[in-house]
Amino acid sequence: MECWQTWEEGYGAMAGRRGRIAGTGRAVPERVLTNAELESMVDTHDEWIVTRTGIRERRIAGPDESLSTFAVPAAKAALEMAGVEGREVDLVLCATVTPDTPFPATANVIQDKIGATRAGSFDLSAGCSGFIYALAVGEQFIESGMAKNVLVVGGEILSKITDWTDRATCVLFGDGAGAVLLQATEEAGRGVLGSAMHSDGSLGELIFMPGGGSRNPPSRILYESGLAFLKMRGNETFKIAVRSLAEVSQEVLAQAGLAEKDVDWFIPHQANLRIIEAVGKRLEIPEGHTYVNIERYGNTSSASIPIALDELNRAGRIAADDIVLLAAFGAGLTWGSAVLRW
Ligand code: ACO
Repeated sequence: MECWQTWEEGYGAMAGRRGRIAGTGRAVPERVLTNAELESMVDTHDEWIVTRTGIRERRIAGPDESLSTFAVPAAKAALEMAGVEGREVDLVLCATVTPDTPFPATANVIQDKIGATRAGSFDLSAGCSGFIYALAVGEQFIESGMAKNVLVVGGEILSKITDWTDRATCVLFGDGAGAVLLQATEEAGRGVLGSAMHSDGSLGELIFMPGGGSRNPPSRILYESGLAFLKMRGNETFKIAVRSLAEVSQEVLAQAGLAEKDVDWFIPHQANLRIIEAVGKRLEIPEGHTYVNIERYGNTSSASIPIALDELNRAGRIAADDIVLLAAFGAGLTWGSAVLRW
């Protein structure tokens, strides 16, 4: 990545510069795991899963597949739609809690596979809010003049850290990746109009993986003791999620001088249909303007918003000038939102 050498060619020229989404992409595993199959694995049933979560099926990666299996094609699809070559990318950000390896970052793998030879690249860990966090970071690089093209990927292979004997979590999650190419524009009023990131580390143990880091390093003992699985206190998380998603969405709309009635598409993180509906009601988002695909993917964490964005975009359902509101909540605890004019 190149830095500007003088104020005139850098910040001075950048006033009014924002990032707009010039391309989107997604990739998910072929394998579909239905609620009916889960009935034969744990003590659960389709009706409980559908009424409590809205999920009917999810995609699950195979034994030889990892995050980059999906993150790379998602990234390539976003670049192709934007008409941008890998060597034109200045920065690659990958939001994930399930990278290919603890290090190097999966963003480095993506950077290599797309031929982003000039780019810096790093992973960012903010649970299900990861994509919003990465988008906000990428936007700062664009507004400051340090980058023109930022590839923002959100991807997760949660199936590999799921305890498949725990019915309270194993029915919820799915795998996949989505990507957007954030590109600098000088066009007034277009692109990312506002964003916000929040966290409360005191509530970190509501959703966490106790093992695999320096506190409980990877080892045979670790796996035998079940520390390498995602743990979640779902019920306590639920209420905080509804409140935080509504508040942070209102915060970014106010930042952008917009009202809830201005929103053409509300794309919330897909964790639970009841959370989505409760937030939509609090925000008074008009009927039919909230995008939901949780029934097909489950909770794909940092991938859920970019996958949803790509589905809507490729279906031609986002019109030029549409106001798109994104909001997410997840492990950390973290929450964040961004609003953009398409
Ligand atoms: N099948 C059948 N019964 C179940 C299942 C299941 N799969 N899972 C739990 N139950 C039972 C429980 O044991 C409990 O039984 P009991 O009353 O006899 O004790 C009962 O169902 C109710 O359990 P709750 O946990 O209270 O159910 P709730 O309505 O809260 O739904 C859920 C659980 C779906 C997890 C919900 O709380 C939720 O979605 N929470 C938010 C999750 C979230 O947003 N996480 C953030 C993102 S995740 C990330 O960042 C990686």
